[in-house]
Amino acid sequence: MPTIDRRHFLKLAAALGATLAWGSASGRRSKSGWRERRDLYPQGVASGDPDDNSVLLWTRRPYADGRASATLLVEIADDPAFTQVIATTAAKVQAESDWTCRVLVGHLPPAGEYWYRFVDEEGNGSRIGRTLTAPSPDDNRPTKFAFVSCQCLPEGYGNGYRRMIYEDEKAQPEERLGFVLHLGDFIYEVVQYPDQVKNGRYDRQLTFPIKYPKGKTVAKNRFWVPDSLEDYRVAYKAYLQDPDLQDARARWPFVCIWDNHEISWNGWQSIQEFAGTEGWVPAQTLKVAGNQAWFEFQPARVLPPGSKLDTFSAPTVQDVPLKVTDFDDTGLGTEPNNLAAINSLIIYRALRWGRHIDLLLTDNRSFRSRDPGNHDEINPLFEGDTLGFVPEELWAQLDGGREYNGGNPPAKLSIGDKSVDNYVAKAAPQTMLGAKQKAWFLDKLRNAQATWKVWGNSLGTLETRVDPQNLPPGIGMWKGKGYGLMSVYDWGSMFSERAEIYDTVRDAGITGFAIVAGDRHSFWAGYAAKALPPAAFEPVGVSFVGGSMISVGSAEANEYNQKKENNPTRGLYIAEDKDGKPQCTENLTLRHGVRSALEYASSKDLQKALAVRNPELAPHLTFVDNGGHGYATVRVDANTMVTEFVCIPRPITRSATPDGGPLRYRVRHEVPLWRPGEPPQMRQTVVEGDTGLSV
Ligand SMILES: [Fe+2]
Repeated sequence: MPTIDRRHFLKLAAALGATLAWGSASGRRSKSGWRERRDLYPQGVASGDPDDNSVLLWTRRPYADGRASATLLVEIADDPAFTQVIATTAAKVQAESDWTCRVLVGHLPPAGEYWYRFVDEEGNGSRIGRTLTAPSPDDNRPTKFAFVSCQCLPEGYGNGYRRMIYEDEKAQPEERLGFVLHLGDFIYEVVQYPDQVKNGRYDRQLTFPIKYPKGKTVAKNRFWVPDSLEDYRVAYKAYLQDPDLQDARARWPFVCIWDNHEISWNGWQSIQEFAGTEGWVPAQTLKVAGNQAWFEFQPARVLPPGSKLDTFSAPTVQDVPLKVTDFDDTGLGTEPNNLAAINSLIIYRALRWGRHIDLLLTDNRSFRSRDPGNHDEINPLFEGDTLGFVPEELWAQLDGGREYNGGNPPAKLSIGDKSVDNYVAKAAPQTMLGAKQKAWFLDKLRNAQATWKVWGNSLGTLETRVDPQNLPPGIGMWKGKGYGLMSVYDWGSMFSERAEIYDTVRDAGITGFAIVAGDRHSFWAGYAAKALPPAAFEPVGVSFVGGSMISVGSAEANEYNQKKENNPTRGLYIAEDKDGKPQCTENLTLRHGVRSALEYASSKDLQKALAVRNPELAPHLTFVDNGGHGYATVRVDANTMVTEFVCIPRPITRSATPDGGPLRYRVRHEVPLWRPGEPPQMRQTVVEGDTGLSV
């Protein structure tokens, strides 16, 4: 039995304000009279954040008869027939929490498999869920988990979840997934109603029933976003009625963090920004509302200040506009309503899974500083630009602020012959984590004891570097001094703070450092290094990004947005192959350089394209697929980490088969554990299918 004793667990449960169930060594047959009534539990069941002796269970049982609360019975059993019930407890559901229910079950043996269900006072039962506890910290068994992100259900279907369930059911018990790590964009708060987009969006028909009871339109009325707590709740309730997502939550414990869309598309701290809207939209109340809905619908072991697990105690905040002078020297908005809103739920946390996984989870949205590129002052530099890339040296100046160049930033920011005053010359380097979370993260990292230190991160860390300096004449005019960046918003361009983290890994002699991320709607594999050639390329870990479960990726968007006429740079993004089928040359641009992409666009010959690759561009990348959807799995043991990308076709119709439909490809990245001071090495195997222009 687990080491934690009942007194300790009671203390822990009291601290969480949790309804708790206490496992007993001997089971007895269920006496609840459970009769399954899934219709009364429309969002199913879920579990989350397991440790080696406890796990959090979740359901929602709404009542419409005017009552304020009701009591459910929870049963946890060793078998799916509930002949060996090892714990029961009564749990309250309340109108105040939108009838959601969280129960902490403790005193469970480690590495166990359990079944659970909820029963109301009339014997109406939820579906049965399955959950798992973590192996104990000294347990040497190999472990496996999946990571997913970006499931825009209004635009598609959860075929990836269906495939994941199918493969897990077929797998040997010791090869099954221990948990599903959800890296954010669980919901998309920004929606288009089907009648707004009659012709669909790219390959997608929008048919999904989200209608916000209040809602507001943004970006010149193109989109709807939530404008109340009830609006956020409506989004979760709609998503969780999806059968594939619901079956996945009923099969595995989930470990969830948010990215942007759980709260706001271009949100940071408690500020919202929308294209076509002037300035910052104060949204302290909506940050609290988004946090509250996340707390209510995700089974996560996090507790808002002053709250109990059964209700979220929302701080009272006002939507007060933030001014530039409201930010302290670390980039934190000190306006009291902003502070109350962003601290209303802290989700950064760490989990341990057996001997081999320390999982560190960060929040990349609530504490990040203002985007140094999102200033009107910079616009003159980009006048007349047709390429859309950001010079790497300019971005390093914007990112580093006053610390750039050893504390000697230039007085002017320039591209070619255009320049503006360096408006960040006195600013601190930008931060993703904020000072407090960063201190927590670095401390956890230094003290992590498991073989593999896995950083679960909503945002990718691998540079989106491009080499427009190698474009032939006539294809755009590159004014940068050398390399450019295709995108600048995630860790791939957070140079200073990323270097601080990687230097900590190096200086502490940490090995087995691995990053898993989401957000990019594309599969990426490569090395975690703070700099690229011609600077010294010194990887300290490995880094992966998982494809979107559902959401549109750039390969699909390019098929619509990259016009064939008068578009000299089209070949950098898309080209037709010999059969006229569109291929994502953007993968070549990012991994091998512009010459490779353009060569493929004209000759349709991948070997010829690779013959003109730029070997200096991207030694940090081993795989890029900007058209990939699906999920990834990670299997670790004492010696090796194997990350597998399971790529499915665009999920634009629901798969009719129990396997979730065909695979596009399965590719495996194998990393032997390296010694401190050595660089990691990755070996790639295409297990099945066609990886197109990705390898
Ligand atoms: Fe996303």
